[in-house]
Amino acid sequence: VRSTDLTYQLLTFARGGTPIKKFTSLSQLITETTIFTLHGANVEPIVELPQDLWPVEVDSGQLGQVIQNLVLNAMQAMPEGGHLFIRAENMEIAANSQLSLVEGKYLRISIRDEGIGISTENLQKIFDPYFTTKSQGNGLGLAVCYSIINRHDGLICVESEIGKGSTFYIYLPISASYLATTTNIYSATPISNANKAATSMGRVGQPKKILVMDDEPVLRRLLEKILQKQGYAVELAADGKQAVTLYQAALEKSKPFDMAILDLTIPGGLGGKQTIAQLLAIDPAAKAVVCSGYSEDAIMANYQEYGFAGVLVKPYLVQELNTLLKRVLEA
Ligand SMILES: Nc1ncnc2c1ncn2[C@@H]1O[C@H](COP(=O)(O)OP(=O)(O)OP(=O)(O)O)[C@@H](O)[C@H]1O
Ligand SMILES: [Mg+2]
Repeated sequence: VRSTDLTYQLLTFARGGTPIKKFTSLSQLITETTIFTLHGANVEPIVELPQDLWPVEVDSGQLGQVIQNLVLNAMQAMPEGGHLFIRAENMEIAANSQLSLVEGKYLRISIRDEGIGISTENLQKIFDPYFTTKSQGNGLGLAVCYSIINRHDGLICVESEIGKGSTFYIYLPISASYLATTTNIYSATPISNANKAATSMGRVGQPKKILVMDDEPVLRRLLEKILQKQGYAVELAADGKQAVTLYQAALEKSKPFDMAILDLTIPGGLGGKQTIAQLLAIDPAAKAVVCSGYSEDAIMANYQEYGFAGVLVKPYLVQELNTLLKRVLEA
């Protein structure tokens, strides 16, 4: 029933790279999106937006989606109604700040609700794709927010207390061209992804190579994004035939894959079971995990007999994926 919503979120999530950033009146965007989203709900917005906000350059479509997802979550956390406090403020982040942000000037948006709150245990998981505690939820809203804010070189984080409510904070860097015109404030440290990557990665040598086979293009791209973000090199195949071809080609170039993630069922094509058999025939050291939405399939239970090194049951959390990858790659 909600598959159109789901596809929309997934598409945005998987949508290629760079946001189209323009100077945007955030006040207007925040106000309009909030009113639109709360329409008909028993929630009263209390919006505090000062006139002198520093300018930011954002993709207004993407940022609107972030605000919408956060307002929607707040609304759903207050089924009996309540207040929604939204504010934006200028904020300087120092080099020794606890936040994982480059020092400099930011605009901070806070969205606070008086809802059910989030347990300490769940706080770790809420930004993972597919994590949801709602019977009708897809668990994609916050994953989308995270991805979008990240692409804006910003940060999204949360504070919450059970029974009291939650506050989501979004930090967006002030426009670099604005900073350049206001002299003497900062020695124009560019805030870029490249900068952040250099400090947070620090990996040496070649990135590990992973082959992803899934017949669903959106999921293929989603997995590609998630894996690339962790520093893996990724190639994609739509079915077993393509997967075997890519695997063979990589072997011949002496750049073999470190592992493959194979979908069990590929309608009209070679599925995971046949594919692993072929991969093992050309490379007895091939490592692959099988994934499927059908956890009851016999192959999922007896994966080792078919030559797989692990299983992923869809939908899975990014954390589960990471744990499995680490285990398989280090084995
Ligand atoms: N304001 C909030 N108050 C309480 N819990 C929240 C709030 N925002 C998010 N959560 C928790 O985080 C989970 C993940 O949120 P997310 O928006 O990613 O997915 P969802 O709302 O469950 O589903 P979807 O957004 O895809 O419809 C929620 O299921 C809920 O448990
Ligand atoms: Mg949501």
